[in-house]
Amino acid sequence: DDALPAVYRGTLLHFLRDPGRDDDPDAWELFEDGALAIGSDGRVRWAGDWSALPDRHRARVVDYRGRLIVPGFVDTHIHYSQYDMIASFGAQLQDWLQEYVFPVERKFGDRDYAERISGLFLDALTACGTTTAGVYPTVHSVSVDAFFAQARARGMRMVCGKVLMDKQPDAPEFLSDAGVPQAEEQTRRLIERWHKTDRLTYAITPRFAPSSSDEQLAMAGRLLREFPDIAMQTHLAESRPETASVLARFTNARSYLDVYDRAGLVGARSVFAHSVHIDDQDRSRLAAAGAGIAFCPTSNLFLGSGLFDFAAARSAGIRVGLGTDCGAGTSYSMLRTLNEAYKVIMLKESTKPESRRTTLSALRGFYLATLGGAEALHLDDHIGNFRPGKEADFVVLDWTATPILTHRTEIARDFPELLFAQMILGDDRSIEATYVLGHRAYSRT
Ligand code: GUN
Ligand code: ZN
Repeated sequence: DDALPAVYRGTLLHFLRDPGRDDDPDAWELFEDGALAIGSDGRVRWAGDWSALPDRHRARVVDYRGRLIVPGFVDTHIHYSQYDMIASFGAQLQDWLQEYVFPVERKFGDRDYAERISGLFLDALTACGTTTAGVYPTVHSVSVDAFFAQARARGMRMVCGKVLMDKQPDAPEFLSDAGVPQAEEQTRRLIERWHKTDRLTYAITPRFAPSSSDEQLAMAGRLLREFPDIAMQTHLAESRPETASVLARFTNARSYLDVYDRAGLVGARSVFAHSVHIDDQDRSRLAAAGAGIAFCPTSNLFLGSGLFDFAAARSAGIRVGLGTDCGAGTSYSMLRTLNEAYKVIMLKESTKPESRRTTLSALRGFYLATLGGAEALHLDDHIGNFRPGKEADFVVLDWTATPILTHRTEIARDFPELLFAQMILGDDRSIEATYVLGHRAYSRT
């Protein structure tokens, strides 16, 4: 029974902003014996110490003492259409797309298949504690309808939109839009049907510059201007060969990012996946626009794409969230993704003098997986932490999910050390329960 209102009792951790390199104590709140009061509307009414819970917020108590409660994880970049082909062997980006991705995406013209995979995909997310994601379907309108219908039925806050692709050879014939007017018409109809329906946000989704004609990119930019509160998501400078091919085609553009900029696609609600091979001018532009980057460490390592410069992106003031990027990414778990983000940053920073190195602390890692992701998607008015009025999406984590976690937890000396053990050793086994709008969406048992 998960009737609301209710008070969830356990250790609470949430973030008010980025704790930065030095774990700024004003950026996060920890209530070791905490109370999270949820109203009948599924929103946070109050969060703090159990002993300080005001009488007016008392309600049915759900006891998670000895567990950690954090806001639901936000995966800023993932492909639901690649559910079937995760863990495909031995190819870098462009060959991997042609050999493995496109044949599978072809199947999403079938509504029943798309519905079935949408359901499995959303189950996989909630089992990992992920409650919001920036999701790519396929070029097919029905793949968007299927996904949004499933997400809506579960009450989840999701971002998605029809993939735009029309230029061969990076878009195969069998996955190409049948012309710019038709792609625009389909997109308009989907925006009308889904944008701001319950918790859904529509995102204009040109797959990446190589697979769109100039005319299609321009159309995407026009729509983004016409619907100012709509999102935009695409891939940017993921691999070196991809980046070189973009510069060879768009000879007037200063950089890969500039191709999107000239099409009017760089705005506050734009999210660029990867952004591995960008320069300081690109970073300044992204920061000034208020755009986000989806940092996808497991994917960048799996495809051998490169090491994202996290420190440079954050020093430039860019909103950065984490993405699993499954099926190029290798885990749906944001904890596993944090594990690999830590390693990518260690490697990237290894050549700097020690005093100037950045490391990803557990506190900053959990910020990235929650509020940071919400900020990157411009959804932080709704989700990301336990401020009163926020939608109550949250995860209950088990410190003792595995023998090694149990052992490491027992000998941890302080909370940051304990949390770091969870960030490095945790995975879907750590997720005891996932709540969406105050209602239980997943339970491990
Ligand atoms: N670039 C264009 N499409 C894709 C995709 O599906 N996955 C990844 N990782 N990169 C892309
Ligand atoms: Zn991707």
